[in-house]
Amino acid sequence: MSTRVGQPGEVSPQVPPRTPSPDALAAARTAEERSGSRGAVASEVVRAPGLSLVSHRLLGRSGLRVSPLALGTMTFGLDWGWGAERKEARRMFDAYVDRGGNFLDSASTYTNGTAERLLGEFAAGRRDRLVIATKYAGSAGADDPNAAGSDRKSMLHSVERSLRRLQTDYIDLLYLHAWDGSAAHEEFRRAMDDLVGAGKVLYLGVAGTPAWQVSRMQAIADLRGWAPLVALQVPYSLLHRAAERELTPMAREMGLGVVACSPLGGGVLTGKYRRADLAAAGEAEAPATRKGLAAASGALSERGLAIAEVAAEVARELETTAARVALAWLLDHPAVTAPVLGARTLAQLEDDLGALELALSPGQRARLEHADAI
Ligand SMILES: NC(=O)c1ccc[n+]([C@@H]2O[C@H](COP(=O)([O-])OP(=O)(O)OC[C@H]3O[C@@H](n4cnc5c(N)ncnc54)[C@H](OP(=O)(O)O)[C@@H]3O)[C@@H](O)[C@H]2O)c1
Repeated sequence: MSTRVGQPGEVSPQVPPRTPSPDALAAARTAEERSGSRGAVASEVVRAPGLSLVSHRLLGRSGLRVSPLALGTMTFGLDWGWGAERKEARRMFDAYVDRGGNFLDSASTYTNGTAERLLGEFAAGRRDRLVIATKYAGSAGADDPNAAGSDRKSMLHSVERSLRRLQTDYIDLLYLHAWDGSAAHEEFRRAMDDLVGAGKVLYLGVAGTPAWQVSRMQAIADLRGWAPLVALQVPYSLLHRAAERELTPMAREMGLGVVACSPLGGGVLTGKYRRADLAAAGEAEAPATRKGLAAASGALSERGLAIAEVAAEVARELETTAARVALAWLLDHPAVTAPVLGARTLAQLEDDLGALELALSPGQRARLEHADAI
């Protein structure tokens, strides 16, 4: 068994130096070599328990320090029928930030704009110490053919809207939410670079895009001297491991930090669903409820319940919750910079944050991974 003292991209497990000393840089390099910068499997590394939200990690090839767990805001607002009302969202935001969390994840489309509005309101007064990520390329109006898409015009309008809602004059991390399949990738990569040049955006990321296309975008940006992509957001959990085929190895090679969204498979990995829920979810409730969404995404299925049961078994051994086990598996993963929490209540958030204290043994990791070997 090897004990890991650092992680690729992790500045320090305890107090991050603002200016890393040559010794710290050498130690980080050694830790990276130990865990293997290519082709490492998760079960090779074990984290000593006791991470916290200030155990910062570097995001991809950037110098940006982020908390090892991000707070997602897709549950901020009731507009989609299954989120948190303003007061509860505020409690979650305060609990996360008061513990030192700095990495907030939103999108122009979440809860029809309410998520960004609430985030902007809550961040007032402490905005500069936060790393606010948002995404563009959602539809803002059905009658406008340029309202959605990856192109320059859609990007500019989306970013201006996000800046207003977030009550800020810069976005720390702007993701392309999903590549629209158009040939305009050089156009929008150039436009993203312009936003960085204008100071409206500090760092760039991508989501919803195949590995071959991200790799091409990054290579072209490097050749042209444009601001690189430093983050890849991808659904990744014990339930969704397809990213291991192409996306996570590509991210490592191309210098993008992996930000794992839907880390609990929409709630299935908490173990709260039973076989009876499969039948109920098949009825016409999607996507009006979280359970319906989980069913529609394939997470709430016989396979999903079987994987959740393995997480629950490990949780019983460790006297903890299945949610923490599933999140701890991601926290220890050498390819992952930060999972994005999707809590809907403060109680769920408190439970999820407990994953920072949990260490899985290599045997437990192996059992979790074998539950759905890829
Ligand atoms: N880039 C993208 O395309 C994309 C896609 C999805 C999400 N995201 C980002 O990732 C974040 C997280 O995604 P997600 O909401 O799908 O995450 P998730 O953690 O997989 O699912 C969140 C749901 O799990 C349940 N849950 C969470 N913690 C729990 C606990 N301790 N006990 C019991 N239930 C718990 C809640 O379900 P109930 O509501 O049923 O209680 C909650 O709504 C989002 O906020 C967003 O920022 C990005």
